Amino acid sequence: MSRRTKDEDFDTKIDVLRTRIKNSDDLNVQDAVFDKRTLMDLYSLASKGVIDALGGSVCTGKEANIFRAIAGEKKLALKIYRISTSNFCVMQDYLHGDPRFGNVKGTKRAIVAAWTKKEFRNLTRAEEVGIPVPHPIAMKENILVMSLIGNDECIAPQLKDVELETEDAKRIFKKIAGYISVLYNRGKLVHADLSEFNILYDGGEPVIIDMGQSVTLDHPQARRFLERDIANVAHYFKKKYNVGSPEEIWEKLERDREKMEENEKREG
Ligand SMILES: Nc1ncnc2c1ncn2[C@@H]1O[C@H](COP(=O)(O)OP(=O)(O)OP(=O)(O)O)[C@@H](O)[C@H]1O
Ligand SMILES: [Mg+2]
Repeated sequence: MSRRTKDEDFDTKIDVLRTRIKNSDDLNVQDAVFDKRTLMDLYSLASKGVIDALGGSVCTGKEANIFRAIAGEKKLALKIYRISTSNFCVMQDYLHGDPRFGNVKGTKRAIVAAWTKKEFRNLTRAEEVGIPVPHPIAMKENILVMSLIGNDECIAPQLKDVELETEDAKRIFKKIAGYISVLYNRGKLVHADLSEFNILYDGGEPVIIDMGQSVTLDHPQARRFLERDIANVAHYFKKKYNVGSPEEIWEKLERDREKMEENEKREG
């Protein structure tokens, strides 16, 4: 195939993909999400078999749009960070304090890509230490591909939209306290935006999402973010169910840290 026809072929495929996206059940598809480069990256993910088809919109967040997708039998979620409307000054602040990404400079697109990579790595690390998070599958530029949390009928709701019995609320609070502790003590990460909005409730269990802003412990703001996460979670459970307290979470964190240090000493 000559160069020209190859390009034309590619353009046609992009158009097909664009039509498919526009025809998907999402009526609010914005050009802010599907700029030409994002479409090309989606096409590249499709041609590698990472995704087979794109479905409707799940949610329009502050920085990103979430879509359903499938790959064979697998149900996926695609988080597409918007290049044009992302708050990249804030992103830069979080990136600069993180030794993994401290040197990222340049265009908006480069910063958003670094941010997407950061979320992918944070999810990977959280999963490695045993925290239930969406399984990270792939990333390309501003697109993060992960498993969809929920089942065939419905996507898991946010914790804020769930009504729990008191006993369940106690159990879920304890689990979340445990996840904050494991993420900190073993994963060496602070979520940094933990609240009832970024915890999904899937089949009776909490799943932590949205880790783009999560930072390593050496980030200058890590302690402040940890305090805020603990305060947010405790406040929510106290107000809505009259269970839990920030002290309980801090005690859990401390106990786990001591246990870990003892184990490390024993193992030499
Ligand atoms: N893997 C997933 N499976 C199911 N639903 C998801 C998944 N990831 C995100 N969502 C849904 O999309 C919403 C927005 O996702 P997320 O919080 O990651 O994006 P965001 O742009 O940071 O949003 P916000 O600014 O509202 O926090 C979530 O609250 C959740 O309802
Ligand atoms: Mg969120």
